[in-house]
Amino acid sequence: MSKIAVVGSNMMDLITYVDHMPLRGETVEAPSFEMGHGGKGANQAIAAARLGSKVAMVTRVGDDTFADATLANFQRNGIDVAHVIRTPGLPSGVAPIFVEPSGENSILIVKGANAALSPADVDAAADLIRGCALILMQLEIPVETVYHTVRRAREWGVPTLLVPAPALPDLDVAQLADLAFLTPNETELATLTGLQVESEAQAEAAAKALVGRGIGTVIVTMGGRGALLVTDGEVRRIEPVKVEPVDTTGAGDAFIGAFAHFVTSGLPVPEALGEAGRYAADSITRRGTQRSYATAAEFRSRFPG
Ligand code: RIB
Ligand code: NA
Repeated sequence: MSKIAVVGSNMMDLITYVDHMPLRGETVEAPSFEMGHGGKGANQAIAAARLGSKVAMVTRVGDDTFADATLANFQRNGIDVAHVIRTPGLPSGVAPIFVEPSGENSILIVKGANAALSPADVDAAADLIRGCALILMQLEIPVETVYHTVRRAREWGVPTLLVPAPALPDLDVAQLADLAFLTPNETELATLTGLQVESEAQAEAAAKALVGRGIGTVIVTMGGRGALLVTDGEVRRIEPVKVEPVDTTGAGDAFIGAFAHFVTSGLPVPEALGEAGRYAADSITRRGTQRSYATAAEFRSRFPG
């Protein structure tokens, strides 16, 4: 039985490493290109699985060679693919990505079959999901499917975590009140609350407003500045882990997948976030998305616990 279910996306990442971004109308040569597996849902699933969790993926692939490669990738990583659904007539999701010498990226997503993941697909996976300890979601699938999963999970008594990315202006917080965890970055937090989030004090106030609306724990991710953990009655700062960035693509997903692994393994939330921060920092020292995620053994050799 799986411990973590991901109801979410998968994409093929088409990553171009650039010296500088082209301007409109300009052609520039870029030093290198790599294709790899990505998509926020799949990335989180792979991170948790590499660390040793049993993970099931509820997702849709298209009707193309990327679909076969994606299925094989899930299987190689020990992920339950019983609810990875092939979608006739649709392409798989793809993400053209540009990484600059600073390690920062710009990402385009084309959802493809991910846009067809439906509430009925979630119901079809009920037997698999209801036995899990945590459900992970992001916003690269229809938002109705996310709301539906939150409702079902409440009936089943399974805790849920939503990464509200990519930011969605009209996300309905009332439909998310049963979430155990919501993990916005500062931009997403501002979008969600309509409040200004330009300082840590403002981030704390906005996160508290969401907790006030029923969400269990809000984790504000602040990239190189760490994270802020806000619950009813507790605010904690999770310190960042300093590394030389090579490629930050998918670091946020590494953080969430690792957090899911450690928290469902029994670590208290602040400690699980500390481990997740180390896991994500490690991933940005290497190129690629999932390709840069460590196994449990690699992680422990770099960060002896
Ligand atoms: O969060 C990083 C991911 O965003 C990439 O893997 C890309 O596929 C997009 O989904
Ligand atoms: Na990386």
